[in-house]
Amino acid sequence: MSRNNVKHCLVVLILIAELLSVLIATGSPQPATKSGLQTKQAGEPQIWRPCGSSVAGGPEGPPMAADDVCTSYSKLRGPITDAAVQDPDRYAWQTFCELNQPAPGKTRERVWQAWANQFDVYVSRPDPKHPPTWEGATTGASRREHFENRVELVAALRAMQGGQDSSTTTSTTDTSTTHSGPTPRYDADECDPNTYQQIFFNRPQFDYIVDNHLWYVEGQIAAFDARKTIDFPTDAMVVKALWRPISEAEKPKYLWTVANENTQGSSSTSLKPQLFGLASFLFISKIIPTWTWASFEHLDNPCLGRQEAPQDNFGVSTTGQPSEALLAMFRKFHLDTALWSHYRLGGIQTSYTDTTGRPIILGNSIAEAGFQTTSSCTNCHGRSTVGPLTTGKFFGAGRLPIFSGFYAGNFRPQSANGAADPSLYTDYSTSPPARKYQQLDFQWSLACANNTGSDSNPCSPKGK
Ligand code: HEC
Repeated sequence: MSRNNVKHCLVVLILIAELLSVLIATGSPQPATKSGLQTKQAGEPQIWRPCGSSVAGGPEGPPMAADDVCTSYSKLRGPITDAAVQDPDRYAWQTFCELNQPAPGKTRERVWQAWANQFDVYVSRPDPKHPPTWEGATTGASRREHFENRVELVAALRAMQGGQDSSTTTSTTDTSTTHSGPTPRYDADECDPNTYQQIFFNRPQFDYIVDNHLWYVEGQIAAFDARKTIDFPTDAMVVKALWRPISEAEKPKYLWTVANENTQGSSSTSLKPQLFGLASFLFISKIIPTWTWASFEHLDNPCLGRQEAPQDNFGVSTTGQPSEALLAMFRKFHLDTALWSHYRLGGIQTSYTDTTGRPIILGNSIAEAGFQTTSSCTNCHGRSTVGPLTTGKFFGAGRLPIFSGFYAGNFRPQSANGAADPSLYTDYSTSPPARKYQQLDFQWSLACANNTGSDSNPCSPKGK
């Protein structure tokens, strides 16, 4: 077989695998079809009243009825001995403050900004003989800030997702309505105002990825072949920061930064120094086995509270008033109360479902624009896997697909939510059951790694 034929076969195989996994993923009952969960709104069956969610919210969202909060932690009784487990909203704000306080010895740089950017870990043309070092990633001359344009990233993810946006893809519920041009529930692009993104790893996260050879695709495949369990240490953390261009006048209400040509990840030469404000801030921490998933938003985010009311029992009330406890926390960490009062906790996810089994929904209005009402940080990230067909040539190729499929009335691919589906990972139809995919401990970023000697991955700014 010629090289081209091999390549062609591989692509076809990958497409079949992707299609199969979509079919498998969508074979399980979707929330929209579960009885008793449907909303009364006609024509929008996919909105089935997710926890804490509202379609009618103003900038702060409507006051949440007790039943809207899908968490067993909201009504606290007795002492708090571990905030992350027993009082997650307090833990989310506490961690937000710790991460956003000035880095030691710095005035403008924040703690997380001194960590390692993912592209100084998932380097282009990786050479296993020369692994990245923490010093190189955080202080070296080659360190870059790597601002990724989200429009480009999202387009790349879509294009590389085995054609999930194409007409060949199956629909979750009703094919006749999903592809005949229904009006989307809302204009998701309007929620994502020219945003740029950065991902930073703390030292334990960085060390685990490098020490276990997960920073290049062949290392991940070797882990699969060796049946090595991927299990990050309990102090591992990742930050995903979303920035949008702001004006000089907006500076007092934003954490801001200036990104110039040198700090941009893109190879474009036309970039000028630009003022950016922190629009969204997502952090994850391995403090529990399924990680904690926190989403913060700036008050000016166009779709804040529009699809999903913020869920915050600690920091900011539904009327938009920061609590005394939060203000005290800001002061403790040397954070300007006037500036930081412009940020809101969207919510923190610490489990797949509530105590009755209802899926917990959490999405950031920018990062999850277009699928916020089906978004489950935990479930979607649990699909980050390595499998027998992983090649790394395309984002996510040979891994479980990012999205579970489509819902009637919305042509945008949607997130899986609720409990994880064991049959995605193991084939129980054989005896003994066979392994299909191995989880990568919730780290989607690992799909951004390049193949040895290559820079083909779309997450990675080319040639840097
Ligand atoms: C439908 C799937 C999906 C959902 C839902 C989702 N993410 Fe992600 N997330 C991704 C993908 C894909 C990436 C990697 C691409 C990128 O850089 O954005 C990612 C990247 C990240 C990263 C960078 C580190 C890593 O593991 O890749 C963080 C942190 C993160 N997401 C947090 C969250 C949080 C918090 C939520 C919920 C509020 C969430 N995500 C919801 C798919 C999802």
